[in-house]
Amino acid sequence: MKQNEYPYRNPALPLEERVEDLLGRMTLEEKVDQLMQITIGADTNPNNAGDGHSFRPTIGSVLSYSGGAKNRNAFQRLAVEHTRLGIPIIWGYDVIHGWRTGFPIPLAQACSWDPSLIEAGCRVAARESYAAGIDWTFSPMLDVPHDPRWGRVMEGYGEDPLAAGIFGAAAVRGYQGDDPSQPGTIAACLKHFVGYAAIEAGHDYAYTDISSRALHEIYLPPFHAGVKAGAMTLMSAFNDITGTPAVVNHYTLTEVLRDRWGFKGFVVSDWDGVIQVENQGYTSDPAEMCRAALTAGNDMEMNSTSYRNIPQLVASGRLEMQVVDEAVRRVLRVKFAKGLFEHPYRDEVAPESVSLLPESLEIAREAARASMVLLKNESDTLPLKTTLRHIALIGPVATDPEASAGAWAAMVLPETVPTLRDVIGKYFPESEIHFAHGCDYEGDSEEGFAEAVAAAEKSEVVIMALGEGGNRSGENRSYTNIALPGRQAALLRRIAELGRPVVLLVSSGRPILYPELEPFANAILHIWECGHGAAAGCCDILTGAYNPSGRLAITFPRSVGQIPIYYNRHHRARPDSHSWNGTYFDLDDSPMYPFGYGLSYTRFEYSQMSVSVPELTAQVTLRNAGERAGKETVFWFLSDPEAKLTQPIRRLIAFEQIELAPGEEQIVTLHFDRMRDLAYIDPTGRKVFEPGRFILSVGSEKAEFIVRAE
Ligand code: NOJ
Repeated sequence: MKQNEYPYRNPALPLEERVEDLLGRMTLEEKVDQLMQITIGADTNPNNAGDGHSFRPTIGSVLSYSGGAKNRNAFQRLAVEHTRLGIPIIWGYDVIHGWRTGFPIPLAQACSWDPSLIEAGCRVAARESYAAGIDWTFSPMLDVPHDPRWGRVMEGYGEDPLAAGIFGAAAVRGYQGDDPSQPGTIAACLKHFVGYAAIEAGHDYAYTDISSRALHEIYLPPFHAGVKAGAMTLMSAFNDITGTPAVVNHYTLTEVLRDRWGFKGFVVSDWDGVIQVENQGYTSDPAEMCRAALTAGNDMEMNSTSYRNIPQLVASGRLEMQVVDEAVRRVLRVKFAKGLFEHPYRDEVAPESVSLLPESLEIAREAARASMVLLKNESDTLPLKTTLRHIALIGPVATDPEASAGAWAAMVLPETVPTLRDVIGKYFPESEIHFAHGCDYEGDSEEGFAEAVAAAEKSEVVIMALGEGGNRSGENRSYTNIALPGRQAALLRRIAELGRPVVLLVSSGRPILYPELEPFANAILHIWECGHGAAAGCCDILTGAYNPSGRLAITFPRSVGQIPIYYNRHHRARPDSHSWNGTYFDLDDSPMYPFGYGLSYTRFEYSQMSVSVPELTAQVTLRNAGERAGKETVFWFLSDPEAKLTQPIRRLIAFEQIELAPGEEQIVTLHFDRMRDLAYIDPTGRKVFEPGRFILSVGSEKAEFIVRAE
């Protein structure tokens, strides 16, 4: 029989039959190759230090590939047409928030609270990266952080496990589409499985001490949601989970992921994750690393090559062949499901024909303006009148496209990203814009202050565009001080002395410290790192063409001393009313800006909340009491004040967005469920419903109710 007559080549056969047929024809060496992922040539991804490996066309996967469709086709042809079984390679890349068209960083997107926007952005990213030869993205990141010193908070969807799961599922749908075998879709990879964000003191790559309870209650749920949404792959994490590194963790990778959740795809390690267990003090024997990772359920090894020990381990009886077969089966399953055997090559279209399309840029702009969060608006400083004659625009962000592109910007070309300075004139055609750089992000120089003061003095309002700079957050970007760097706060203070209204825009990839900035601005808009739509989206808000609707998906602390800080914390033994209550003596204990916070140009009022039991419905009347149309995110929080396993003070169980015209009101209804919403997760991961007293809160409203045993 010729290769093209083998049953696995026949797309009409059921997928599992094709997998078994192909697996049965493979040599051990071919199997090992399928479990390895390498870079070709120099790796241009700054987060990985690699010079690349020599290319073997039988290799399972290539990562950090940015060589375009034509080169991919040439390599892929070697795999498909010049190897014994012709197994196509799967090509991966970190497409985190766009490919050529830049979308807001995921943390910002979460602040839009709009899963449909996240899905739409990921669909664009899939289409663009697919055309460039990518099959698979290492996204979404579903880590749940409590510590903004960790630079990777920018990559996730904030601190709430439910929200991270909902947004992660939206990303999976966006990347993979309804049918992941179709051209224009890419496979998603949920990462980092699991608990990476629990790192100590914000140090990247650090140890994590995670109780079974926290594992099941905080860190696993977003992954479960992503698996239910059909994610084809997961990435095991770098962290050492309470003594068993994630990459060799049988409990998480097999007992939870496969046995409980029924996940059928494959797990790839993180970069060198398998061999790093030596640094973590697990084993220094490469064969043992390989055996431990594979038997735990880590199917593919990224970059390092300890899996080359597989034949020796099998021959010596230390590794069962069926463990190897199962890993290969999972990889092949994804390759078949991805349609790689039917569509191994790419059309060599010019990237411009699918990149930066007007409709993609429109989605980017919508996502950007929906992600920005209005933190302060004293005396309705914003929106600005478009009839202003003189506006000062000051600060390093105003001219910096990289501040908008943000970290992990894939193939976003900074020169294609409009800056505030580029576009602001269009939004204020009657105004003269007086620009001054003011100061750099970092460093001690105040040389530019005088020019900035002169620009501000000529103006009726000053827009200060300050920030972190595009790459201060991201992987391996841990900081003990998360205040704005350099002389930026001093510049703001200097400008504020002039007495003009000051609008502060802050671009960052993480929560920053506002106490030193807030008193010196009349309005504050947190603009994150919002990609191609950043400048236009920001101007839409400045002019009032868009009424800000973003709400924080992560808590902003007042001080680094408050970290870890997050909204769904547990009760202390002594309440605030106690005179010895454990709160800080030197600082207001509350966050600077809490989870869910964000202002609008209108006012929303909540009233007449009611809960019906046994129907398990709740209602509240929401009214737009202001003078502008606006969008409100309605957050429903649950408290379970008495439980055998004590519960967080409150936790989010649902959210919904409602748009209302001025004066309009709507009754918002929540249908809740005993097991899904009222039950808690015990330390083994089981849901437990304890009858009794509960409290639901929404906006300013709160209602207590009792649910009895059925
Ligand atoms: C290391 C990062 O932790 C991971 O998120 C990323 O996907 C890989 N490098 C590949 O670039």
